[in-house]
Amino acid sequence: MTQHSHDRLLIIDFGSQVTQLIARRLRELNVYCEIHPYQKVTDAFLAEFAPKAIIFSGGPDSVTREGSPRPPQSAYTMGVPILGICYGQQVMMQDLGGIVEAGQSHTAEFGRAYVKPTELKTDLFNGWFLDPNGREQVWMSHGDHVAKLAPGFDVYGTSSGAPFAMTADLERRFYAVQFHPEVHHTPNGATLYANFVKLAGFTGDWTMGAYREEMIQKIRDEVGDKKVICALSGGVDSSVTGILLHEAIGDQLTCVFVDHGMLRLNEAEQVVAMFRENYNLNLIHADESDLFLNALEGVSDPEVKRKTIGKLFIDVFQKYANEIEGAEFLAQGTLYPDVIESVSFSGGPSVTIKSHHNVGGLPEKMGLKLVEPLRELFKDEVRALGTELGLPASFIGRHPFPGPGLAIRCPGEITREKLDILRKADAIYIDQIRKHGLYDDIWQAFAAILPMRTVGVMGDGRTYDFALALRAVTSVDGMTADYYPFTHEFLGETSTRIINEVQGINRVFYDCTSKPPGTIELE
Ligand code: XMP
Repeated sequence: MTQHSHDRLLIIDFGSQVTQLIARRLRELNVYCEIHPYQKVTDAFLAEFAPKAIIFSGGPDSVTREGSPRPPQSAYTMGVPILGICYGQQVMMQDLGGIVEAGQSHTAEFGRAYVKPTELKTDLFNGWFLDPNGREQVWMSHGDHVAKLAPGFDVYGTSSGAPFAMTADLERRFYAVQFHPEVHHTPNGATLYANFVKLAGFTGDWTMGAYREEMIQKIRDEVGDKKVICALSGGVDSSVTGILLHEAIGDQLTCVFVDHGMLRLNEAEQVVAMFRENYNLNLIHADESDLFLNALEGVSDPEVKRKTIGKLFIDVFQKYANEIEGAEFLAQGTLYPDVIESVSFSGGPSVTIKSHHNVGGLPEKMGLKLVEPLRELFKDEVRALGTELGLPASFIGRHPFPGPGLAIRCPGEITREKLDILRKADAIYIDQIRKHGLYDDIWQAFAAILPMRTVGVMGDGRTYDFALALRAVTSVDGMTADYYPFTHEFLGETSTRIINEVQGINRVFYDCTSKPPGTIELE
């Protein structure tokens, strides 16, 4: 059996929409866990994985259906604690001798529900039911229900539709709940996970310091004395990837920073200086702005812009990478949410693997092997690792910046003149946001130069200059967003500064559109 340096928890995925949230809750407790689809979890897999505890996720199937998903039976005989959630509870009951009944309308529950404790107590529910009402809000989503408990189990909590909402076999340390403790609508759910990992004996040894050391050793083992190239954008994921690799293999790494001429004011210089001065890593600053800007001349369609930039990026990266003799690996900042194998029930029990191609299929094209040191991390963990590696806070907290850069903040045709004006205006806008202490409250803020000129009057003269749009949004994941409610004072002050300090702009608009119906970028 393989020796693992962390206590490991295995989440067997039966296809719930929220399985990833279980992993989030556990990582927050410094517990290392992995999600694997049930098809992959065989007896041999379990023995190799050597979990200290197992969680059965929820899932859309019915255990009453023949051939429905099951965990391997050795899960029950390994002597480790198991927590079953929703479908996971039902599968556990059925496997261990209980009875599950298929959906009937009076026992189905969807959405908010309340559980009440029975007379019995278990440490799994420490910190629950402290509310004067003596009940806890939970989130339910089940059609089937447990009709008879498996031998050895007792009931610890009930809801109106689930007489067996909270169940446990304390001797075997098997716990099973009908609701979903991982979602926000179960407000005290995190406590339940904390209790579970505590009683399973986890010490919370999954720290960024430990991860850093472990990953450095892993990279060294994987890469040996070979060379690695990495496309650096200055964003958090690629920066952390570059720095971690540099720490592991030093000069064997070369980073390529492609400047496509549509970066923000002084951005290329800042990124290059930060990496060269603080980390002394091999960095090629590929200034290819002429190539990109010439190719974009006369292009005004947003999708053609994106495609032109994407294709040229690959060509350019390949050209520089070819100069690095003997490079065998390409490093990518792929994150855990991009690689989780999820159980798909749409076309039968198949496995969908989302793959992530930051550099558009380059590894296959160039015959390179991939190194992806962030594959096990969520975004906020990447930020924590960046901090651990000494990446300045200003880099870690940067707003997202799209690959095509200012090209999509310059609706219509791109010209060098417009880009110069936009850079100056954007820098003032961001400076204003920082000065007012608002930067970290905002998901993304930027200026866009509009494809129109308007009449103004400055001094005694008439002007006919560009109009500028300011955009700032709040968001959790960029999928939906709301505009940021700046004060009129802030907007007035910023507009005045931009018009006074940037030649070529005589009018400023603030974009009050949410997403949907708008998008965050203007193109
Ligand atoms: P939208 O405009 O679609 O943007 O609401 C959502 C998030 O994605 C970023 N974005 C891009 N990122 N290439 C990228 O790398 C693109 O073509 C692109 N378009 C939008 C956008 O900045 C926001 O964070």
